[in-house]
Amino acid sequence: MSQLSVRHLLGIKNLTVQDIELILETADKFKEVLNRPTIKKVPSLRDLTIANVFFENSTRTRLSFELAEKRLSADIINFAASNSSVKKGETLLDTVNNILAMKVDMIVMRHSSPGSPHFLAKHIKANIVNAGDGTHEHPTQALLDAYSIREKHGEIAGKKVVIIGDIAHSRVALSNIFALKKLGAEVAVCGPKTLIPKYIESLGIRVEHDVFKALQWCDVANVLRIQLERQHSRDFPSLREYALYFGVNKSLLDRLDKKITIMHPGPINRGVEITSEIADSEHSIILNQVENGVAVRMAVLYLLAEQTA
Ligand code: CP
Repeated sequence: MSQLSVRHLLGIKNLTVQDIELILETADKFKEVLNRPTIKKVPSLRDLTIANVFFENSTRTRLSFELAEKRLSADIINFAASNSSVKKGETLLDTVNNILAMKVDMIVMRHSSPGSPHFLAKHIKANIVNAGDGTHEHPTQALLDAYSIREKHGEIAGKKVVIIGDIAHSRVALSNIFALKKLGAEVAVCGPKTLIPKYIESLGIRVEHDVFKALQWCDVANVLRIQLERQHSRDFPSLREYALYFGVNKSLLDRLDKKITIMHPGPINRGVEITSEIADSEHSIILNQVENGVAVRMAVLYLLAEQTA
């Protein structure tokens, strides 16, 4: 089997098209394992110990990595900064080096500081998987999103995908843009001017501020949450006004002359960026994204482990 060109999964930016295709194809095989009626696991990583090191809150990503590791028969330990010695002033590098001293082979890390996994990669030998670094990248989310579009539409090349919402504070947006562009999709972003970075068009994507026009253009709409915890200024008057002008709802979708696929990385703020009616509709693949996340993360962990084998 082919190998990845990287030792760590730090972001999508530094992956090749072949890397992404290899991850998606490997995820296909692991999805078959997960769909077996019995024994939904393989012994592939039974000699490995993986630490899930989360300095930021998470539901989907942390549980999805933990399940992926268990399905690969790895030993795991979980670290949450909130009840650790980080609270006593321990540095990131000291924390990780202490975890590695316990003979841990791989680190899956979420951290609020952009670039923190890249910093670690310069100082430690173990493989690192970025589970989200601040406003920078969330590579496994983009991979599972690409996998889910491919599963629903057959291929990604030529598909029109719009990412709607708080692009400026989103790591999901940047990783999705890198992944979808590499795989040949046409990509647009849509949101208020204050939530779209000025540099974004230099990535070769369209910018739209009218949500109806954006929805009419696309095959797939990936709707993002307003990242209030990362906003340091008031970028729009109120959540109510945001929902009025940029929220995805039934009356907007009913006006389209076609059916589109609705995605959301979660967590959803129902009634703000998307109504419940749309999030739970037959055109939504939101829970398929979550399901596919386990297979995609199994693929990432398996392929990175192959690098050191
Ligand atoms: N999509 C995502 O990263 O969700 P969590 O923050 O719950 O992990």
